[in-house]
Amino acid sequence: MKVTVDAQRCQGHARCALIAPDVFDIDDEGYATVLCAVVPAELEDRARRAVTNCPEGAITVD
Ligand code: F3S
Repeated sequence: MKVTVDAQRCQGHARCALIAPDVFDIDDEGYATVLCAVVPAELEDRARRAVTNCPEGAITVD
């Protein structure tokens, strides 16, 4: 499972980093970055919750 953040959509709500702090971080400008190119199996549920909780729909899963 891979996650990506669309920088054009991200508005810095930071829910992703709160829900899945081992998968997402917030950069110095307040926008999301992805910490792991491939999400470990044990973090997939949290990563999916982050996807559904992003109000901008900025995170996609492959
Ligand atoms: Fe950005 Fe959505 Fe996270 S707006 S900071 S990807 S919750």
